[in-house]
Amino acid sequence: MSDRWYSKAVIYCLDVETFQDSNGDGIGDFPGLVSRLDYLARLGVTCLWLHPIHPTPNRDDGYDVTDFYNVDPKLGTLGDFATLLHEADLLGIKVIIDLVVNHTSDEHPWFVAARGSADSPYRDWYVWSDSEPSDRRQGMVFPGEQTETWTYDRRARSWYYHRFYDFQPDLNFRNPLVRREVMKIMTFWLKLGVAGFRIDAAPFILELTEAGVADCPKEFTFLTELREHAQWLRADALLLAEANVEADRIPEYFGDAGGSANRLHMLFDFQLNGRFMLALAREEPEPIIEALKSTPTLPQGAQWATFLRNHDEVDLSRLTADQRDEVFAAFGPDENMQLYGRGIRRRLAPMLGGDRRRLELAYALQFSLRGTPVLRYGEEIGMGDDLSLPDRQSIRTPMQWSFLPNAGFSTADPVRPVVSSGDYGYKKVNVTDQRQDPSSLLAWFERMIRTLREAPEIGSGTCTHVDVPAPRTVLVHRADHHTGRMVFLHNLADEPATVDLGTLTAEADHPNDVLSDVDYGGPVDLKSLKINGFGYRWIRLSRDTVTGAPPIS
Ligand code: NOJ
Repeated sequence: MSDRWYSKAVIYCLDVETFQDSNGDGIGDFPGLVSRLDYLARLGVTCLWLHPIHPTPNRDDGYDVTDFYNVDPKLGTLGDFATLLHEADLLGIKVIIDLVVNHTSDEHPWFVAARGSADSPYRDWYVWSDSEPSDRRQGMVFPGEQTETWTYDRRARSWYYHRFYDFQPDLNFRNPLVRREVMKIMTFWLKLGVAGFRIDAAPFILELTEAGVADCPKEFTFLTELREHAQWLRADALLLAEANVEADRIPEYFGDAGGSANRLHMLFDFQLNGRFMLALAREEPEPIIEALKSTPTLPQGAQWATFLRNHDEVDLSRLTADQRDEVFAAFGPDENMQLYGRGIRRRLAPMLGGDRRRLELAYALQFSLRGTPVLRYGEEIGMGDDLSLPDRQSIRTPMQWSFLPNAGFSTADPVRPVVSSGDYGYKKVNVTDQRQDPSSLLAWFERMIRTLREAPEIGSGTCTHVDVPAPRTVLVHRADHHTGRMVFLHNLADEPATVDLGTLTAEADHPNDVLSDVDYGGPVDLKSLKINGFGYRWIRLSRDTVTGAPPIS
């Protein structure tokens, strides 16, 4: 089976609203993003994931949509969006968008009609109960901010279901018209030229919700239908879903038709993310090793999307209470840093105390592990957060481009305040400063991503823990592909260490460091590999040449 583009991608996620303003209204827009595509190309990004771009009252940062067939006028016009797709394409960058169809905004005309009359053709597009559901106060996603999942609507004289906030009524996926509409939405955007979708809240769109039923059944065949539909319209369309589920449920999301995935192509690796944070907190790789070992083998074409930070809180809900407390103690000790009792609302740089060595270590490790890396805007320059802002907004501040007012993001007062003071203020942390400085974090990211380009084993190959007697702070893993073999050392603690990888000698052909925290000198001696505190070494063991068919004699 040939390699797929998403296995070799570097995905960069951003909110157009906070990336670059072009018209001086304080809100980022498509022309602004177009003007920054060259920056993203230089960084090595090959795919953009845009957070919701549709018209919205913006009560959940765009995840509350009022029109799936348009873009929010604050961001520009559909023409501006088409221009973005064209310009990105010229630079070899694909664009995927958020598909937020579990729910709509309560201001969506469908819901307005549905709640307005029991006879409305849209009534059955949402999930209703005539009596108060016994599980009304269960299943909230935002505890503390959300008190129920069923809300009584006086106009409708009925209770409606909302997995998220009460202004986000869930669509009724039992209704074939709703399913058909979702296909139509996909058609619209695929025909416009997007390369695929990040499917928001995937487990919930499969759920056949019924009032008072605790564990409602899920209909996974809908994912198969979505996949068939998308693929028919665009053969290489990508379906990447958000589904933070137990390990044993994962295979159902990918599907399996004769050994190949036939539902989603990619899932965010929540299994790894929480344990990654635990490993960083403990300064020991054991939780990561456990994640690598305990996740199911994936069918052909199924791929993980790895991430350290995204636009939500660091979600530690898959850890035990004790483990969660360890991560809180290390990275989010103040109550104000924590959210929903399960997460941390900070960016990675402040979580790691601004320690450049640990930041490099963490990102080198993420980018060398299984799957395709997803990088959140601003992480490449080590942006910080603003804990004075409410809930998840702390990590959604505008991109810091320069030392100009408002960080060069906008000439007007920005949609959300720019981080202006302290160690992460825009005068200290910005692109312009880092762009020309070969020792900057940005330059490091560019170098690291270039190295990744030369390492098809990562992403396209297999990723396994190498079980050698190593100091307990060092993770040794390897990647194998028909193009070659690589081995990686990452030291999660400050103590230097030495690792003996002599057992790999037979597989090595002039092994050499392709990326490391310092120049460890050559030649590489596998029997005695030194590694600094918080150091990392990506070592190529060998490279294979793929030969064509032999001549027929
Ligand atoms: C998941 C998104 O990541 C989050 O930001 C949003 O609030 C919910 N889905 C609701 O759409």
